[in-house]
Amino acid sequence: MKKIAVLTSGGDSPGMNAAIRAVVRKGIHEGLDVYGVYNGYAGLMDGKIKKLELGSVGDIIHRGGTILYTARSEEFKKDKSQHEAIRQLKDLGIDGLVVIGGDGSYRGAAKLTEKGFPCVGLPGTIDNDIPGTDYTIGYDTALNTVVENIDKIRDTATSHDRTFIIEVMGRHAGDIALFSGVAVGAETILIPERTFELNDVVEKLNKGIKRGKKHSIIVLAEGVCSANELAEQLKEKYHLETRISVLGHIQRGGSPTGFDRVLASRLGARAVELLLQGKSGRAIGMQKQEIVDHDIIEILKQKDPLPEGVYSLSQQLSI
Ligand code: F6P
Repeated sequence: MKKIAVLTSGGDSPGMNAAIRAVVRKGIHEGLDVYGVYNGYAGLMDGKIKKLELGSVGDIIHRGGTILYTARSEEFKKDKSQHEAIRQLKDLGIDGLVVIGGDGSYRGAAKLTEKGFPCVGLPGTIDNDIPGTDYTIGYDTALNTVVENIDKIRDTATSHDRTFIIEVMGRHAGDIALFSGVAVGAETILIPERTFELNDVVEKLNKGIKRGKKHSIIVLAEGVCSANELAEQLKEKYHLETRISVLGHIQRGGSPTGFDRVLASRLGARAVELLLQGKSGRAIGMQKQEIVDHDIIEILKQKDPLPEGVYSLSQQLSI
């Protein structure tokens, strides 16, 4: 193997740049030529591929976003598009690809591997919903962004004696909501993995008010419902007045934490090692502080489990 490429795909996440840097620098350190694919799989089909040098990835380790840009591509799900992508890579003599992204991006990498082109996947998403790794690149930064913002909202919630509903990202995974909720001492945490009764939510809020609480925070994962919907229901059914705050895409931006930078660097370097060892179709992750890799198809069949202990702790501490 002489030439490899790297791309970022799906929703961006802080730390993707640190991962790109690690792939490029480790690749060059091992004597490889490393190419960057711009705009994810969409750019790959269009041949938006450029050779990267050591300097191309200088001064990016601390930057959010991705210097390679990213996209979600419906077109790439077609066989024809995947063959075209392989043709583009082979035309440049590239024989390995590192894909940084979430489960949709892993699906693309699995398809290319199935068609004979060696790919490895790095978990890049703020959602922390990829099986086979304890953490995804960007999750720690997003979690800290959420905590910082909820702390600010708490100030005004206390001043005004208000109940706030804070909507955070996570369509299918409640990690951001659960962990930020525990970190800010939220009264209620609502996540897609658990059902809830609105009555119980209200009872808990009222109990808090009775014992003199100055504010209440409800952290709501977007996959449950929108903050607007919840606020309307609380008003209509229980005459409970709330304020809402939808944190939105600020959760995806910003300078990566030290944790995310180191995680991204370790995973990026391992990706190059695996390709050099002739391995492909692997999903790389970190479990119990060790860098590990699993069959990407197996990873795609699994569901990332919710940390049960943390969920029950959140229930116990928010009484
Ligand atoms: O997958 C990451 C994620 O940030 C989700 O948490 C969120 O639901 C989604 O992306 C938003 O995607 P988009 O930026 O395309 O609206």
